[in-house]
Amino acid sequence: MTRTVFVTGARGKTGREVVAQLAERGDTEVRGGSSRGSQEPTTVAFDWRDRSTWPKAVNGAHAIYLGRPDVQDSPELVTQLIAAAPDAHIVLVSEQGAEKVAADGWVRRVETAVTRNATRWTILRPSWFQQVLTDPRYFLDTIRRDRTITLPTGGAPIAWVDTRDLAAVAVQAIVDPATHHGRTYTVTGPEAVTTADLAAQISTTIGAGITAVVPPLEASLAGAPPWLAEVAGDMFNRVHDGTFAQVSEAVDRVAGRPPRTVKEFIAEHADLWRA
Ligand SMILES: NC(=O)c1ccc[n+]([C@@H]2O[C@H](COP(=O)([O-])OP(=O)(O)OC[C@H]3O[C@@H](n4cnc5c(N)ncnc54)[C@H](OP(=O)(O)O)[C@@H]3O)[C@@H](O)[C@H]2O)c1
Repeated sequence: MTRTVFVTGARGKTGREVVAQLAERGDTEVRGGSSRGSQEPTTVAFDWRDRSTWPKAVNGAHAIYLGRPDVQDSPELVTQLIAAAPDAHIVLVSEQGAEKVAADGWVRRVETAVTRNATRWTILRPSWFQQVLTDPRYFLDTIRRDRTITLPTGGAPIAWVDTRDLAAVAVQAIVDPATHHGRTYTVTGPEAVTTADLAAQISTTIGAGITAVVPPLEASLAGAPPWLAEVAGDMFNRVHDGTFAQVSEAVDRVAGRPPRTVKEFIAEHADLWRA
């Protein structure tokens, strides 16, 4: 084994793909972190809220795949984790268009926690994940049961990225820190697609009518804690202004192959929505 890598959120939409792709290489000891404890040999207990779990996860790690914790004190938590692993190469998952966020905005403060404190770092700014369409906490059940996709996009398209492609970029950064240290990559799919396009493509593929619902942004954010309403509101404003529709070539350039299309993702997962 040439390197040890700690992967946060190893059961999550991106972390599980990073774990799988690193494990396939055969040259990497992978520690996949889960707040639900270690259930497989490659899993280590890791809870952002329980510092006693951190040393076993990070000690001796050459690199950390850091799925940004979406909590208010994320900048402080990320700073503290890096202090516990000062020599590790940090590969952070941020979000598309972070460069348009004010320097004192939450998204940028998380990035700065990495770029200021880590010895080596790579920032990934992905578009929205295609996998939200099959995630039970997002759209799996609404598509399957209600036949709707509800998103306050204002009708703007999004360059949806497959998390397997994001993971492929992350893995290249992890295994080749000399090339990717100090780099920031916007990571997208190959085309921008509106929610209406998405609904139409799923409808055609599964032979059932899916309706795209585009509610006003204010209604969607009502009741959210103030910091979250601000962060999510800012993100949706970047959807509305077309920032999330911009297509990047990072998957081609860094992973060496084209990114998967939404159409391919829908064809591959159609059975999940037919049930
Ligand atoms: N979803 C998108 O379209 C999208 C687009 C761009 C950027 N992002 C960003 O990408 C990052 C990852 O998002 P995601 O959608 O991939 O997340 P996700 O699928 O929800 O995965 C997050 C993981 O974090 C783990 N977790 C939960 N509580 C934890 C705790 N207290 N301590 C440690 N781990 C904990 C969970 O696994 P366990 O329960 O096993 O711990 C979960 O698997 C987020 O910052 C998100 O904002 C998301």
